[in-house]
Amino acid sequence: MSQRKKGRIIVMEGIQWGDEGKGRLVDLLGKLIKFFIRIAGGANAGHTLCIGDEQIITHLVPSGVTYPGSMCLLGNDMVIDPNAFQSEVAELKQRGFFNCEILGVSPLANLVMPYCFDLERVREKARGKAAVGTTGRGIGPTYELRARRLGIRVEHLRHFDYLAGYVPLILNEINPELRYYGEPGYTPAQILSFLEQAAQIFKPYFMAQSVSQIVHRAKVRGDKVLIEGAQGSELDLTHGTYPYVTSSSTIAGGACSGAGIGPHMIDEVYGVTKLYTTRVGGGPFQTRMPKRMEARIRKIGNEFGASTGRPRNVGWLDLTQLKHAARINGLTGFFITKADVLSNMPVKICTHYLYSGRQIHDFDNIDSCQLDQVKPVYEEFEPFGDISGCRSFDDLPGTAQHLFRRIESTIEVPLLGVSVGKERNEIVKVRRF
Ligand code: IMP
Repeated sequence: MSQRKKGRIIVMEGIQWGDEGKGRLVDLLGKLIKFFIRIAGGANAGHTLCIGDEQIITHLVPSGVTYPGSMCLLGNDMVIDPNAFQSEVAELKQRGFFNCEILGVSPLANLVMPYCFDLERVREKARGKAAVGTTGRGIGPTYELRARRLGIRVEHLRHFDYLAGYVPLILNEINPELRYYGEPGYTPAQILSFLEQAAQIFKPYFMAQSVSQIVHRAKVRGDKVLIEGAQGSELDLTHGTYPYVTSSSTIAGGACSGAGIGPHMIDEVYGVTKLYTTRVGGGPFQTRMPKRMEARIRKIGNEFGASTGRPRNVGWLDLTQLKHAARINGLTGFFITKADVLSNMPVKICTHYLYSGRQIHDFDNIDSCQLDQVKPVYEEFEPFGDISGCRSFDDLPGTAQHLFRRIESTIEVPLLGVSVGKERNEIVKVRRF
């Protein structure tokens, strides 16, 4: 019990399909925080931070890396491509943004292996029109091999005697599948050489303590810990729009495994949503806008994938979906981002769906495979005009206040803040956080 009184652990999660602007909010809270932990996913994520005139995109490293004295950890359920990690760290250092005191990689995290990229590519191609539209970062096959008990973890890089026996076992299962798709497959020598390079890359970041030990001690000592989710709730392997999802847990519950803590250790769960919705890759998208409107918002909001550069599909905010995300995450507060993008146009929000003559108010009341058959029902709000100079709720025009209150009262979670521009300080603070 004493652990609950001290320190503070905050989980920050995207509550749509990813790209909600979490990096931006992690960065905002950053100055108060000492420990930053990424928990799952890999280089499929892209967290954009704007500092002055500079823009940085982190993929694997927690967004707190820019804060001097911070400790940044890549958590237990992450899947890490050693080469992507190496280039990201090199770029951060070269551009002067690698300011953390310590960067550590969990020994329990899995490596994205060369054959994971091949498997993803050939399988996506084989699915044709039903392709998931993955990011091509080897994520799905890495999680799949982990679940098949054929994964390679960071801790294995300390034991090449073990790997010498383990790698042939893995290749015995992988090579036949690769050859089925016309790929050459790998020799144990090729994979062991890849792993030797990976060991050199990770060596400076091996940890003497586990992520779990570090987070526990931080909390007991009274430090603040920010657990940074990746992707978004509707891409969660269990709760998302299956099978058009990623392969990890992207909801707050995943933080327990990713950071090695019990649920009672978490003090706050903050959700992040845009004032509209975006989605990349395949799968149903109920509130997608007509093409011209979509193109307009994509341009103003710069809605292109931070990792892949793919244009994002754009839709109206969906309260049916947000209510679901608020519940499965157990949100204690939420932020709205990119409100400024919609300032000069009427804003629609989807309040519920119609399906076979029934009203659907919650995602859980419709099966994922039927979502593309629902008809969204909208409520429309007048344009609220330029809000980029607003910093408090009272500064906002009445229409904007009404819109934000409508969202808050529907999802029944306190609104904490609204971002009204790209810069660190361009935020309307609604409540203390
Ligand atoms: P994967 O994670 O690369 O396997 O991709 C599975 C699905 O999740 C695809 O639809 C991707 O576009 C989507 N996805 C994965 N990571 C992100 C992200 O960080 N932002 C948005 N979509 C993502």
